[in-house]
Amino acid sequence: MNEAAPGDYSTLIEEIKSCTLCPLSEGRTNAVPGEGNPLASIMFIGEAPGFNEDRQGRPFVGAAGGVLDNMLATIGLGRYDVYIGNMLKCRPPDNRDPKPSEMDTCRPYLDRQIDLIDPKVIVTLGRHSFGKFFPGEAIGKSRGRPRRWRGRTVFPVYHPAATLHNPRLRPVLEEDFRKLPGLIDDHAPQEVDKQPAPPVVHLGRSFETATPQPAPATSPETGPVVDQPLQGGLF
Ligand code: URA
Repeated sequence: MNEAAPGDYSTLIEEIKSCTLCPLSEGRTNAVPGEGNPLASIMFIGEAPGFNEDRQGRPFVGAAGGVLDNMLATIGLGRYDVYIGNMLKCRPPDNRDPKPSEMDTCRPYLDRQIDLIDPKVIVTLGRHSFGKFFPGEAIGKSRGRPRRWRGRTVFPVYHPAATLHNPRLRPVLEEDFRKLPGLIDDHAPQEVDKQPAPPVVHLGRSFETATPQPAPATSPETGPVVDQPLQGGLF
């Protein structure tokens, strides 16, 4: 976070809380800007608030949040060691998938959070947040493989809620979380990118799988690959 950032961060959070840019604001109890350590080197990005998150105005406080907390604990972290945000800041009705128009409208908030928090590693939870960085790529093929994005590492993993619907995914998610501390060390990203693709686990629910689509030739989100090793510590 740069020097001007604490004030900017509070301003951003207040903007998100009072946002009325899309119809989701009309049905919300609370917007859910995100929480954790705004100085963290690692940022988790989920999909959208659910029922409990909408009630409390906090991310990942329901069943999926319990899984996320457990996963963090397995690598010795708590939720206030990291930053946790979402693609959408307001709950979609009936927990339906975010619409592209909603993600477009909400995207600048997340982009500003990323700029201000300035994480070294972004962990995408599920296919929607992975799609922000690498549109059209399948989460099943990409999970567990660190990628380079605009000078940061993006690390895609399954959504914690996926493990609630398919317990076979729990060890897969645990395995991916165990890689996280190492990502902050001196990994050369071009080397980790050469790792073989993990086995694909076939799943049933929409947030667990992505229908492979051709990736666009260029992506405004992806930007140029930066071939430099990661620097600094996790926190
Ligand atoms: N699922 C998400 O993607 N985000 C939350 O905040 C809670 C559940």
